[in-house]
Amino acid sequence: MLLPSNEVADDLCGRLAIEQVDRDSLLAARPDPALHPQLWQVLTRSHRQLLEQLGRRLPGNPAWAPLPDETGSVGRHVFVWAFLAVVPQVREYHSAIGLSDDESWDSLSALGEELASSRRLTGRAGLDATWGLPLVFSGVGFRLGRLAFERDLSGYLNTHVPSSTDPLTDAACDASFVRAAEVVAQFPEQLAGFACHSWLMDTQLAQYLPPSSNIIRFQRRFTSFTDRTTADWAPLEHVFHRRFDGPDVPAALLDELPQRTTLERAIVTHLRHGGHWYNQTGKFTNH
Ligand SMILES: CC(C)(COP(=O)(O)OP(=O)(O)OC[C@H]1O[C@@H](n2cnc3c(N)ncnc32)[C@H](O)[C@@H]1OP(=O)(O)O)[C@@H](O)C(=O)NCCC(=O)NCCS
Repeated sequence: MLLPSNEVADDLCGRLAIEQVDRDSLLAARPDPALHPQLWQVLTRSHRQLLEQLGRRLPGNPAWAPLPDETGSVGRHVFVWAFLAVVPQVREYHSAIGLSDDESWDSLSALGEELASSRRLTGRAGLDATWGLPLVFSGVGFRLGRLAFERDLSGYLNTHVPSSTDPLTDAACDASFVRAAEVVAQFPEQLAGFACHSWLMDTQLAQYLPPSSNIIRFQRRFTSFTDRTTADWAPLEHVFHRRFDGPDVPAALLDELPQRTTLERAIVTHLRHGGHWYNQTGKFTNH
């Protein structure tokens, strides 16, 4: 396996929306087979796995277990190097399935977003968890405009709402869903519909946000809601970029959270009254 040189990696970071501070940490944490033999094995295994899975959705949890803290900064960046090393192959695959150049780079920019989000949450550079990144870097997950999608064995396309300052407008979502249906039409699986597993699917949000809000309008596209699991951590992380230990959000943390917007006030008020937030799976069929 050939790792991109630091110069090439630096250039790739620019294309993948990796912020300067994360870029500096990444280049300083370059794995070396002589200095880090065990991490190098992890790197070559992950790299091989991505190439073997290229364009194929396999059963099971796609995320890779984070490496122990003792592996330090190199350990926190080793999967990032595996992702960078497969960029040429994934870009080629994107082109073969008809993604535009911009759609391809937008899809891979999930890495920059995840690095920034991980650093904001933990105060340390590197990846805290890989989540869906192995799917993105094997061409199974892609971003098409405002929304991102993942092929799934169920025939439903999993829908993700990437964090962005761009609002979740109807027009942007319509365009993304239409484009997604176009892209998957070439795959052997029949598109059954779209699914979204998220705190954004928590039907309690309608008690606090007006029907005109983009989140509620997005939620109303989905017609069945299942798999309710407690997830107070999700709005805490996605909206406030904060983490907590234990089953409940500590009252002292709630006191610190900004209360500028309807959503910020909703999240905190609901928790203060003893309520919980849930991840739910919303689904709608493709007509
Ligand atoms: C999804 C998202 C783009 C929606 O933003 P939007 O289009 O502005 O949504 P709405 O129109 O429904 O906003 C309703 C209210 O909530 C506020 N709001 C929405 N998202 C917010 C956020 N991330 N932080 C603070 N307030 C937010 C809006 O400002 C508005 O309040 P206001 O009327 O007092 O100004 C935004 O919430 C976001 O980026 N979230 C993070 C991504 C995420 O969680 N993805 C799912 C991962 S599982």
